[in-house]
Amino acid sequence: MISNPIAHTEQRFVRLLLPSLLGLAMLTASLGRAEDPPKLPPPAPQADVTYAADIQPLLERSCFKCHGEEKQKGKLRLDSLENALKGADGKAVIIPGQSAKSELVKAVAHATKDEDHWMPPPGKAQALTPEEIGLVRAWIDQGAK
Ligand code: HEC
Repeated sequence: MISNPIAHTEQRFVRLLLPSLLGLAMLTASLGRAEDPPKLPPPAPQADVTYAADIQPLLERSCFKCHGEEKQKGKLRLDSLENALKGADGKAVIIPGQSAKSELVKAVAHATKDEDHWMPPPGKAQALTPEEIGLVRAWIDQGAK
């Protein structure tokens, strides 16, 4: 086959243009990421995290007074696994397997756009430490059992 000079030019064009387009796409993606909520603490490496053993004590300390038997702010109760999974007025705040997308995690990590959703509301109860947030993430990522 006789080599076609036009096809050759096209090939060179593709070889040069494709990487630049790819680079541009990656740049755009990283710029987009910069606007995401602040980074969440990483999930704890602990295995077999459960509500009963690991999570309930944290929520009891920091959340129950507003999301327990007496008060259900935002129509959310966190005082049992079943209640926590029911969510706020029927809207899930925990997505088993997806801690980074769970509203509860965003709320405790102050990763919501609106400060009204930071939990507990600053000054109203003891905040969760990054390690505790990591434990909550591990629990949700492992299926919120
Ligand atoms: C002093 C009271 C108070 C405490 C303590 C508290 N919350 Fe809340 N919480 C609220 C109020 C009020 C709302 C409703 C906010 C709204 O609807 O704008 C709410 C709503 C929520 C919601 C629903 C989604 C949202 O952001 O509105 C989540 C999830 C939540 N709280 C999680 C928690 C967790 C987890 C803790 C403990 C770490 C906690 N809250 C502690 C008062 C509290």
